[in-house]
Amino acid sequence: MAILPIATVGHPELKIVAKEVTREELASAEVQQFIDDLIETMRHANGAGLAATQVLRHQRICAVEVENNPRYPYKPRVPLTVLVNPVVTFLDDDKFDNMEGCLSVPGIRGQVARNTRIHVKAWDRFGNDIDAEVRGLTACTYQHEFDHLDGLLFLDKVTDPGTLTTWDSFNQFHHDAFVARAKALVAKHGS
Ligand code: NI
Repeated sequence: MAILPIATVGHPELKIVAKEVTREELASAEVQQFIDDLIETMRHANGAGLAATQVLRHQRICAVEVENNPRYPYKPRVPLTVLVNPVVTFLDDDKFDNMEGCLSVPGIRGQVARNTRIHVKAWDRFGNDIDAEVRGLTACTYQHEFDHLDGLLFLDKVTDPGTLTTWDSFNQFHHDAFVARAKALVAKHGS
C-alpha cells in the first residue's frame, strides 16, 4: 500500500468531474490496489473521508470512515465505507449549517448548508449494492465527499464567506457553539 499525495485548492484537477467506474474496472487488481491506497491515505491524514479526485484519480470512488478522529472529535462513528458511483437523493428539505474542513483546503473551515436526510445508492468496493438512508452529521460527510467527485470543494458551497475561519480561530471562537449544534443534530438523527 502507499500514501498518495493529496491535491490542495488551486490544483486545476480538483475541478474535474470524475467518471463512472465499470464493473470490470472495479474488479481489476489495479483499482482494488488504488482503493487500498485511498483508505490508507485517508487514515494517515486523519480524514473523515477521501475522494479519488483529491488524489488526482478521476473515477467516482470515495471512502468515509470516522473512528476517534482528532480533527472531528464530535463526529459520530462511521464504519469504513467505500462508495463507488454514488447517487444521492435528498429525502426532505431539512438542512444543517455544517462547519466543514477538507484535506484539500488545509487550515480552513467554513459553513455549508447540508441536507440532513439523504438516500444513497452506490456499489461497495466489491460491486455489491449499497442502498441506504443516511442522516445527520454523517449525511453531511457523505455529501462533502460526493461533491469532490463533481469537482466541487466546500469553498464552492460556503453560504457566507464571513464564516471562513482557520482551525485555530475555530477552536478559539466557534468550537463550543458549533459542537453544541452538532451534538443536537446527532441526538436527533442518531448519526
Ligand atoms: Ni474534502
